[in-house]
Amino acid sequence: MPMRTFMISSTTSFSGKTTRSTPSNSPTFPFKCNIVQYCSIPKKKKMSLDLFALQKAPLISSIYFNRNSITGAGDSKSSGKEALELLEPLLSFFSTFLVSFINPPLHPSVDPKHVLTGNFAPVDELPPIDCLVMEGELPQSLNGTYIRNGPNPLHQPRGPHHLFEGDGMLHSIRLSDGRATFCSRYVKTYKYALEDNVGFPIFPNILSGFHSVVDLGRCAIAIGRVMKGQIDLRKGFGLANTSLSLFSNRLFALGESDLPYSIHLSEEGDIETIGRCDFDGKAFVNMTAHPKIDPETGETFAFRCSPIPPYITFFSIDKEGSKQQDVPIFSMTDPTFVHDFSITKQYIVFSESQIEMNPLRLMMCKGMPVSAELDKVPRIGVLPRYASTDSEIRWFEAPGFNAMHAVNAWEEGDEEIILVAPNAISIENLFHNIEKVHFSLEKVRINLRNGSVTRTTLSQKNLELGSINPSYVGKRNRYAYMGIGEMIPKMSGVVKIDMDLECEVSRRLYGAGCFGGEPMFVAKDGASDEDEGYIVSYVYDENSGVSRFEVMDAKSQTLDVAAAVKLPRRVPYGFHGLLVKRGDLDKMC
Ligand SMILES: [Fe+2]
Repeated sequence: MPMRTFMISSTTSFSGKTTRSTPSNSPTFPFKCNIVQYCSIPKKKKMSLDLFALQKAPLISSIYFNRNSITGAGDSKSSGKEALELLEPLLSFFSTFLVSFINPPLHPSVDPKHVLTGNFAPVDELPPIDCLVMEGELPQSLNGTYIRNGPNPLHQPRGPHHLFEGDGMLHSIRLSDGRATFCSRYVKTYKYALEDNVGFPIFPNILSGFHSVVDLGRCAIAIGRVMKGQIDLRKGFGLANTSLSLFSNRLFALGESDLPYSIHLSEEGDIETIGRCDFDGKAFVNMTAHPKIDPETGETFAFRCSPIPPYITFFSIDKEGSKQQDVPIFSMTDPTFVHDFSITKQYIVFSESQIEMNPLRLMMCKGMPVSAELDKVPRIGVLPRYASTDSEIRWFEAPGFNAMHAVNAWEEGDEEIILVAPNAISIENLFHNIEKVHFSLEKVRINLRNGSVTRTTLSQKNLELGSINPSYVGKRNRYAYMGIGEMIPKMSGVVKIDMDLECEVSRRLYGAGCFGGEPMFVAKDGASDEDEGYIVSYVYDENSGVSRFEVMDAKSQTLDVAAAVKLPRRVPYGFHGLLVKRGDLDKMC
């Protein structure tokens, strides 16, 4: 039987010493998180009865759970285990039966045959490989690594699959003195590790929802596996497929249904998953994929969202990486789906949209567990940054304002807060028909004295996935760089918005059949102007099937290309990224 390398998680201590062995070439990290380690276990390539694979693999008995030292899930539950043994043949039968013989028609938004086509189709991992600079010269200011996250299912889905449900894959391009090295690696989540071992999906897709009794059956099988100890939900069930963030001198891959996964970028241009980080046991379950870092204090602000009260809970992480106390927001009385938020010098600003989470929809086979409640009036919440409870929160009604992402926010005087964000028009189509949603970039003025909310549209275009100069997070700034939505996250170009003049000032389209993603602004070293820098993105040419890494001059009127790198193979459309500069790479733990 072939043996292969496999990853499981163990624990490292805050002191910097690992309490369990790690690979000899793996770095040691001075903070508490689960660290990936290797062991050899057999892998089943093909299975007709998938539970057989789980039963045979020694994975389950070898998984070590960090704080309470449980080895071999279910060890102390022998009687329950015996009872569940009786369930196993049944689960095996139904799993195979459902996949093989029952395949109800699906809505295109959750039909994998529709979702995973073209440049949304997954790719394999790719070790570091040198690339050709095909145009211009790579600026010295970009020395470092641009890395972008996105969904890339490890296995062909066995049922409904939404674009957002693919396993996280990181695509990096290391830039060093004019040379470029590209690499693609999965984020090695607990889900990835289990499913990579057995060779097929075992976690049910939740966001795509349950549409028939078949999906309920799949869920029942997964529950059976949890009861048998084959899935340990305490290790997380997220995908880490949404974004990356650099704080407390560590790089994380994030997805909002799980905790962050610590990532290491090697000198050779490779990407390694270090492990799931629980911040010394202080964070649990999940965390937003869009934490905000104050560029002046080094503090990180974040939250977690939940379908049960409190629906949203804020917290901060100091610059040393220590998580501070939770601030549950009980005054949010509906289970709102909150994806992003903003900070100002004194406040946290977040949008309570009409998108709500309702897990009961799953049990009733009504499709996705998120839906638009169109009778609800959206609100904007303003909470003092260092509030210890939500007693100081203020809510401002904003009818028709449904923001999924925020571009920036700041204070003007003592009375006003400015929030810039794309507002989703036709929010009811957000998850089912995103091509029917128009994202209108708005500047929202919130008056803290009289409670008024006034809104200005900054562009008539469909704009999303924006970025700013990161030195201006939480401070008044002038420029935003927004992707022009074709079918988000597939963007046909980028515009530069002047938020003072309240209009578009520059634009670049990628060309017929060419599409990029989030336009990421990177400041030049020693820049004095806010817009002195570059916009970078992976761009895919659907005509030739070739991807390139494009560097645009953010100051030029037409956002001219300063450099372009031909990539060794296509990069699927994805979500958020960032450029970790050489100096920050050197400081990473
Ligand atoms: Fe996002």
